[in-house]
Amino acid sequence: MPIHTVTVRVPAKVNLQLSVGPRGNDGYHQLVTVFQAISIFDEVTLTKSTDGSGTTISISGDQRHGVPADETNLAMQAAEILSKKYDFNIDAHMEIKKSIPVAGGMAGGSADAAAAIMAIDYLYSLNMTRDQMIEVAAELGSDVPFMLNGGTAIGQGHGDQLTSALSRGTYHWVLALSSLGLSTPAVYGECDRLRAGSEISEPQISDSLMQALLSADSKNVGKLLVNDLQPAACSLRPALRLILDVGQEYGALGAIVSGSGPTVAFLVADEDQGLDLAVALTSSGVVGSVARAYGPVHGAKII
Ligand code: C5P
Repeated sequence: MPIHTVTVRVPAKVNLQLSVGPRGNDGYHQLVTVFQAISIFDEVTLTKSTDGSGTTISISGDQRHGVPADETNLAMQAAEILSKKYDFNIDAHMEIKKSIPVAGGMAGGSADAAAAIMAIDYLYSLNMTRDQMIEVAAELGSDVPFMLNGGTAIGQGHGDQLTSALSRGTYHWVLALSSLGLSTPAVYGECDRLRAGSEISEPQISDSLMQALLSADSKNVGKLLVNDLQPAACSLRPALRLILDVGQEYGALGAIVSGSGPTVAFLVADEDQGLDLAVALTSSGVVGSVARAYGPVHGAKII
């Protein structure tokens, strides 16, 4: 019997290192970043329809609010690109079940686009190679290629040129979520404003971070977390400074704004410390909601 539906599960990410170089002529900044995929997952289900209605979309799940259910959704743009590239019609309904916070710096929209590429390839037997999927992913956004791969990886260029990184052990995270997202271009713009007039050097991979990941040394990973976008995110959302302080006071191994924010990610020693910190953050009153996760996990995967 021909297959008419497929579900792809795709993780969120945090950046363990996000070093931002100068802005290039294309408006993008040269990056060196270390991604880790973590265990908060969206699910994208694609079901063929027979009524010739084209590609339709609906959004469900506890993080659905604010996600566009139209052609501006990055997953719908993935469908558009693939349908043009391979010259076929996608008559199908796409349901995105969201658990990854929206506009939170955890690549939720990019994750859904990666999942859509994989779902369309499978349902329409495009037999795309991994490299072909990565190429389409990079057209959609700087974080999309990593969401196909998952695990731990170094991203260069716009963040889309990936090499996998050797990492041992499991890392436990507590995430302080904000109900109001931050716009990625606005955070990069604020970063430029704050650094105007200073010499911006070429970003370099942190060898000490790579070494700590290789030795499963979560204490050192915690100390070495770095995000050049953090001052900009905190400048646009001053409450983030307070959240970072609260987590550090409660003994987190490290605290960092995730990507362009406003999610704040705390690295903790184990699940027990994660639970304690989650309770402490919730009762502090400075955090809207809290999630727990571990990484690294696999990238987009058919389930
Ligand atoms: O690639 P993506 O669409 O996710 O990027 C969103 C925005 O983030 C870009 O329009 C740009 O303003 C900023 N960006 C950047 N440099 C990068 C990646 C993203 O300035 N390397």
